[in-house]
Amino acid sequence: MKVTVVGAGAVGASCAEYIAIKNFASEVVLLDIKEGFAEGKAMDLMQTASLNGFDTKITGITNDYSATANSDICVITSGIPRKPGMTREELIGINAGIVKTVSSSLIAHSPNTIIIVVSNPMDTMTYLVHKTTGLPKHRIIGMGGALDSARFKYRLAEALEAPISDVDGMVIGGHSDTGMVPLTRLATRNSVLVSEFLSEDRLNQVLEDTKVGGATLTKLLGTSAWYAPGAAVSGLVQAIACNQKKMFPCSVLLEGEYGLNDICIGAPVILGRNGIEKIVEIELSDAEKAHMQESAEGVRKTNSLLAL
Ligand code: 2OP
Repeated sequence: MKVTVVGAGAVGASCAEYIAIKNFASEVVLLDIKEGFAEGKAMDLMQTASLNGFDTKITGITNDYSATANSDICVITSGIPRKPGMTREELIGINAGIVKTVSSSLIAHSPNTIIIVVSNPMDTMTYLVHKTTGLPKHRIIGMGGALDSARFKYRLAEALEAPISDVDGMVIGGHSDTGMVPLTRLATRNSVLVSEFLSEDRLNQVLEDTKVGGATLTKLLGTSAWYAPGAAVSGLVQAIACNQKKMFPCSVLLEGEYGLNDICIGAPVILGRNGIEKIVEIELSDAEKAHMQESAEGVRKTNSLLAL
């Protein structure tokens, strides 16, 4: 199993690290445009191998896509991250050009790859990869929902004063401060609805804190987060590599599901060796349906800025 991660910044390096630590891939190629940067990150990570007990071989390369040839999975993290006060949507001008070039270069060397898109604005970048590469929809996956759901579970556990392993929940919709749809109605603590434990006000607070999860960290860190994004990507990569048939909310091209068409947005999917093996349609409440429609309008507005 060969995995390429494009962009050796904090998110890309964190993806490579978590993939390696889980020890399911034979090879991870880290590629960056900055001379020597990916090579340095790869060497540093490889020097943790004996300490962390993994055999995954991590190599770094400066902008030479031939080194990525025949990758089974490619992760695109390239582009600029958010600065405090910026929305993900504001990154479109610079990141669209980068993601277009990167996705074409990856496909030229790995025509059978599955692509995971992390660059922001993520739903729009996932749509752009569809338009650029023409790959079938099951091979293009946007990473947002897995991260947002992890943040949701963190906030739920905090409110419940419970261990995170007790908590289950999912965030669908767009990966943006206003577009996320945390499904508080369905979230559980060991199969018991969290509404049994938390007041409506407290649940609304969880919902709001989840939606601004990325912005909260950007404000604290001065740039966007990397540990949870890296861990979320490694979860998706592992589900594909190990054919786990695990369910994650991911940005996927919808063709009628959730009443939406010609848009990439977060919905629950089953991930296995073929990428997206199924889009799961769950029954939403009227409020959730309305929120999902609003979220889609936001994503479409950003999509309309693409020069397609
Ligand atoms: C985040 O929410 C990077 O968009 C990513 O942290």
